[in-house]
Amino acid sequence: MNQIHKDTRSNKRSIVRYTYLMIVLFLALTGFGQMPIFKRYYIADIPGLGWVARFYVTHYMHYLFAILLIVLTSHVIAEYLFINRKRIKITISGYIRGALVIGLVITGVLLVIRNLASSGFPPGFIVFLDLAHLGLVMVLLMAGLYCIILKKKWAKERFKMSKGV
Ligand code: HEM
Repeated sequence: MNQIHKDTRSNKRSIVRYTYLMIVLFLALTGFGQMPIFKRYYIADIPGLGWVARFYVTHYMHYLFAILLIVLTSHVIAEYLFINRKRIKITISGYIRGALVIGLVITGVLLVIRNLASSGFPPGFIVFLDLAHLGLVMVLLMAGLYCIILKKKWAKERFKMSKGV
């Protein structure tokens, strides 16, 4: 494989990685923004952050970044299944983080349905969904931090097992 091909592939990986990190950062910011904490703890008083205390701004931004997360996740899964499966192997930490992201998408979509007037979800299920979504958020953020600090990769080249992807 020539050097240009290698560079293009690693550039693409960096774009996907930083896009994912930016989406998760904004989902966390807008997600916690929907809880009345940023006003209470004066974070919304920081110049330029007034919008984090405005429910409908954070609510619709959360939906926008949720759509971006679903698009990015679908792209990465499709690329792995149809193109890269023979060349790369997903690591255990990659499977764990993948399962957390898919759990957030499933609970998130159900929470969106909950917000539709006609959802009719029983109150107990709504509380479970909210706690499940929030619990998955905390585990994903901690797992993400752990993997960044310990440089744990999502996937590795099958044939050069020593080198991370
Ligand atoms: C990394 C991904 C995500 C993070 C970090 C995140 C974070 C959060 C947080 C912190 C909350 C507040 C929970 C509460 O009020 O108890 C929340 C609520 C919510 N999230 Fe997410 N979320 C993520 C992905 C998603 C996705 C993919 C969707 C939709 C497909 C979604 C839809 C929602 C909805 C509808 C709510 C409830 C808002 C309301 O009170 O009406 N989230 N999210």
